[in-house]
Amino acid sequence: MFAGRTKLLESLIRSIEDQQMHLVLFGPRGIGKTSALHVLCSIAQEARYVVRYISCGERTDFPELFRAILNDIPLLYHENYDPTSDEIEDGLNFGHLLPDAPLTVAALSDVLAKISGTRLLIVLDEFDRAHGAEFRRSIAELIKNLSDRGSRVQLVIAGVAQNLNEIIEHIPSIRRNIIGIQLPNMAAEEIAELIANGQAESGMEFAQARRLIADVALGLPYLASLISQHAGLAALERDDSQVSPADVETAIGRAVEEIELRIAPANRHQIDRAFAEGRERELGLLSRVALQNSGRLDDMHVHEAIDLKVPAQDYLQSLSDLYGLIAPINDDPRDAYAFVDDGVPVYLWMRLMQDHVLRDLVMQS
Ligand SMILES: Nc1ncnc2c1ncn2[C@@H]1O[C@H](COP(=O)(O)OP(=O)(O)OP(=O)(O)O)[C@@H](O)[C@H]1O
Ligand SMILES: [Mg+2]
Repeated sequence: MFAGRTKLLESLIRSIEDQQMHLVLFGPRGIGKTSALHVLCSIAQEARYVVRYISCGERTDFPELFRAILNDIPLLYHENYDPTSDEIEDGLNFGHLLPDAPLTVAALSDVLAKISGTRLLIVLDEFDRAHGAEFRRSIAELIKNLSDRGSRVQLVIAGVAQNLNEIIEHIPSIRRNIIGIQLPNMAAEEIAELIANGQAESGMEFAQARRLIADVALGLPYLASLISQHAGLAALERDDSQVSPADVETAIGRAVEEIELRIAPANRHQIDRAFAEGRERELGLLSRVALQNSGRLDDMHVHEAIDLKVPAQDYLQSLSDLYGLIAPINDDPRDAYAFVDDGVPVYLWMRLMQDHVLRDLVMQS
């Protein structure tokens, strides 16, 4: 069940409705892009938009994709067809207007320009997974055409990216036609709402565990729900409806096992080396910086998190040379670093938390 994100949804709606802009929604893995898009889609549908949601994949092909979208839009929304016309009664759609030739951006733009009586919202999720440069270039060109013609079609593109550039690298000229919105981590109250929803759904009582789960989750919804679910199950296994801090500890342990499986063996090996050299705590703290800052390790936050005797840049570069777990972000204006694999900071942070929670529980008992 969806929690929080009110401000985000308001600003998405404002950009679409009032400014009629195309949107790029970006943020690190698991921050809640897809969840927010689903809510946005249903709000748009209620507002009588025609909405098409597409989850992109490696093989997403421009002509194929847009043919499928057009096949779904009835001619009722075409400015040249009268609602009583035969074509509409026969249930024809925009796809029937396309030439047999492969669909070009120009032909598609012409057809889309004829939409009237509704607005069409095309949502392209997981855009970072669409690898074809050709595909991205076509999307960029389409946005340009749609904007130039003041068309009733808007695109919302979402994906994992350090910044907007990475997602729209091919098309500097469309910058003024799109608004980039970065998903922030969720606020403490939003995570509390997420946990409360889980409590209402499962009938479990999270009062004693809520604070600890929020501390571990760092505003990341997928961590909050992962830990809540595992903790709830752990309590159930004890035949208890009250989720205890010890259940959270069990949950962290299970999450660590789960996440560990997703880390590439080469990175796993480097993590083992770093731990053997006593760098577990430091890497855990660095991971927290990354998880709280959309993956970025910048000078200021690194200094705050770790007591350094050398400039942050030197420190980060030497860590990068030693283990290869972090690397400079390409073309970053502040020369920030990032972990090379999304799963690594989550794993390192959970490992650190596992130790902490264990120690705190031992001290309490
Ligand atoms: N606002 C929210 N309320 C409740 N749960 C949420 C919320 N946002 C995200 N989640 C949960 O967090 C997990 C990850 O969310 P989601 O898939 O939306 O992230 P994403 O940014 O699309 O991830 P990816 O980068 O992998 O595509 C899901 O299990 C989802 O249910
Ligand atoms: Mg997603």
